[in-house]
Amino acid sequence: MTVRTVLESKQQGRPVVMVTAYDYPFARLADAAGVDMILVGDSLGNVVLGYPSTVFVTLDDMVHHTKAVRRGVQRALLVADLPFLTFHLSVDEALKAAGRLVQEGGAEAVKLEGAGRVAEVVHRLTEAGIPVVGHLGLLPQRVHALGGYRVQGRDEEEARRLLDQALALEQAGAFALVLEMVPRELAASITRRLRIPTIGIGAGPDCDGQVLVIHDLLGLTHGRVPRFVRRYAELGRLALEALQRYAADVRNRTFPTDEHSYHLAPDVAQRLAD
Ligand code: KIV
Ligand code: NA
Repeated sequence: MTVRTVLESKQQGRPVVMVTAYDYPFARLADAAGVDMILVGDSLGNVVLGYPSTVFVTLDDMVHHTKAVRRGVQRALLVADLPFLTFHLSVDEALKAAGRLVQEGGAEAVKLEGAGRVAEVVHRLTEAGIPVVGHLGLLPQRVHALGGYRVQGRDEEEARRLLDQALALEQAGAFALVLEMVPRELAASITRRLRIPTIGIGAGPDCDGQVLVIHDLLGLTHGRVPRFVRRYAELGRLALEALQRYAADVRNRTFPTDEHSYHLAPDVAQRLAD
């Protein structure tokens, strides 16, 4: 998969499948399943590192995990998130940060939240040869400014602003746009007006593609699951049951057995026993 094939997907009406991954084993699974784009999301913070939000994720964290994912991906296009405050200080800082995700991490594109002055950053990254995925709607890096995670673009003024921002990001050179937690009708309207594919998460079925957090869809996250998630497996429950059985087997001495053991030659064993 390349930036070009992602763009062509929209013209050909082929949905773009995207999923997150944060490490080597899950990257391998996602790639083997044939997903089109793998995102090393800064949801790394909540999902894998145990932080309360994405604002704690550093560029070093992102580079480290992108490298691990890179080793597991052969076919999918690899995208990595620019974390909190790594693209607001200056265009130069943003270029340097994105450069690390590409050069050290092995990402083929970066994603960044927002529009406005961020559109200028998108333009400069694109110009430097770093393909960019935009991200509008709910912007988790703005959780403290927003006061929580909720649907964005519900009133007409907000909806029109999001549409303008989407057009600005396309104009700036973004090759795809993630829409997070926006009303279905707004996502559909943005999707119709853009030439680049929209990739929805909580944005309804009319986007050009969909993305989910891999731990959400596999049933590995705990706590309340957002409405937009479909759980395709309950791996968390399976893992818990497996670990409980292991603990019980060790405690009642039914694991390990002789079949899990290594042996000395019988004569050596005999002499050692004497
Ligand atoms: O970090 C992330 O997982 C994301 C997706 C939800 C789009 O940005
Ligand atoms: Na993200």
